[in-house]
Amino acid sequence: MKTFLLALALLSTLFGAEVVEVGEKYITSQKCKACHLHLVNEWEESWHHKSHYKNDEYFRATIDYISRKTRKSPNSIKIQCAKCHNPRISVTSTDMSYEIDTLMHLQTDPRVDEAVNGENISEGINCVVCHNIDKIHQDKNESVRGMDRVSWIASGTMVGPFDDAFSPYHKTQKRDFMDTKPNTLCFVCHANDRSVSGFVFTNMQEEYGESTQKCVECHMGPRREYVAATLKLDNGKAKKREIRTHKFQGGHVESFVFGALTLTLKEEADDIVLTLFNPNPHNIPSGFGSRELLIEVYYKKGTRVIEKQILSLTRYFTRKGERASVAHLAIKASKDTSVPAKGEKVIKVAKVEKATDMEVKVYYRLVNDEVRSLLKLKDPIWSRKSLVTSASLELQK
Ligand code: HEC
Ligand code: HEC
Ligand code: HEC
Ligand code: HEC
Ligand code: HEC
Repeated sequence: MKTFLLALALLSTLFGAEVVEVGEKYITSQKCKACHLHLVNEWEESWHHKSHYKNDEYFRATIDYISRKTRKSPNSIKIQCAKCHNPRISVTSTDMSYEIDTLMHLQTDPRVDEAVNGENISEGINCVVCHNIDKIHQDKNESVRGMDRVSWIASGTMVGPFDDAFSPYHKTQKRDFMDTKPNTLCFVCHANDRSVSGFVFTNMQEEYGESTQKCVECHMGPRREYVAATLKLDNGKAKKREIRTHKFQGGHVESFVFGALTLTLKEEADDIVLTLFNPNPHNIPSGFGSRELLIEVYYKKGTRVIEKQILSLTRYFTRKGERASVAHLAIKASKDTSVPAKGEKVIKVAKVEKATDMEVKVYYRLVNDEVRSLLKLKDPIWSRKSLVTSASLELQK
């Protein structure tokens, strides 16, 4: 009886959210390649695929930083972040005794190590994250996200956009969030991202307001005619379908960022007025962490640059003791300076004597200088400047 109770207590502290194990036949995208190779290849390019401690340097460095500053074990932070980053993890919370065991270098529960190093989460947000969601609980408090906002369908059933799909490898079921209401699916994780102390640093759902534009239209591209599966079941041919690409391109892809904003320049008495317009239904950059827009203003005499000015639109976060911090430990932030959804941002710069021409270039950067140096990020992608838009103007006055 005693051991039974103990086992029960262990279970209840290690498994916060309900875990439904993924069967071996479906556990990685490898298993889908025989029939969905084109979709697997596209998804492998995405940052959903990279959402794992070992595959995304920024994610890893942030976890290590939080672990150092809060003196909690890296595993317990990984499990906290897994709610959205690795929602098929098999252990969903750790308790005080786990922390004490780690701190004292005692033997820790092996299931925690197994869970954070498990094959099923090594692929980040893979096929059986989105396609194994049975229900999305919209009635839950808006702070409840990721795995805590969904319930999983029994392993072996794939939910999708079609109500007449047949596959010999798995069962299929149609869901609205795969068809007419896909934003509900994206908002399971892309909303209400908050710091350890409950400070909401990004909320794409709020930015979106009443917009009904579908995330998938831009991030998976419009529906086009192709096949969903290459298996030849339809009179010896693969069935034609309306499908979407699975690349989930976003801020990490230079060509995707290009054109995200438009820029117009206007001359006033003593100033040049820069108007940045964002036609998209969410902010640019979206409030997430420490993304940045860099505005480079060139004053020219003819074709020669006589002065240069750089403006940065980003957000800074502070943790306890007013110290600079990553968003995830923030208790406070500077004003959100992003260009609002479907809105504009107007910036004035003073004219410079003798300048006859102006050129302005707007770049997007994934991580601002402050956080890049706090985390010592090395990969050039984090400091890369991706061109968003540019404009020039001949001065009259
Ligand atoms: C509510 C769901 C949610 C939780 C919980 C969450 N994240 Fe995220 N995280 C996201 C989403 C969605 C994105 C992508 C947003 C974007 O690119 O703007 C993201 C992106 C990131 C990025 C940027 C990665 C990159 O490649 O640019 C980092 C770093 C990050 N998260 C760290 C963490 C850490 C550390 C934790 C745990 C303390 C955590 N997140 C918990 C939803 C979440
Ligand atoms: C972030 C969520 C997400 C992930 C991860 C994901 N999908 Fe999808 N998938 C969707 C959505 C949404 C649709 C519906 C697209 C539409 O509107 O037609 C879809 C559609 C499909 C379809 C129907 C054909 C099509 O392309 O529209 C198949 C088959 C499919 N996915 C397989 C996969 C496989 C295999 C993987 C893993 C490599 C995967 N998906 C990963 C969200 C996801
Ligand atoms: C042996 C071939 C085969 C394998 C392996 C396979 N599928 Fe499928 N899958 C199919 C076929 C066939 C369809 C139906 C296609 C159609 O009707 O156009 C399908 C349909 C789907 C759909 C759409 C369901 C719907 O109702 O809209 C999803 C999602 C899906 N598969 C996901 C996966 C995932 C994830 C894996 C890997 C774990 C996988 N499949 C492995 C053959 C396969
Ligand atoms: C289970 C949680 C989850 C769901 C559901 C989800 N995402 Fe994500 N998404 C994330 C996380 C976490 C990241 C960041 C991964 C990283 O960079 O390591 C991300 C990254 C992205 C990115 C890349 C952003 C960038 O900065 O390059 C795009 C685009 C994206 N998601 C779109 C979508 C769309 C569209 C949907 C709905 C069809 C969706 N996501 C559903 C969690 C999720
Ligand atoms: C009209 C097209 C469009 C729609 C609709 C759209 N996006 Fe985006 N999204 C973009 C563009 C363009 C960018 C690149 C600029 C950037 O990274 O800020 C982007 C960037 C992102 C990023 C990276 C954010 C950042 O600034 O770091 C994420 C995450 C994302 N989108 C998720 C979503 C989700 C989730 C939805 C639906 C709720 C959605 N998007 C709807 C066009 C769109």
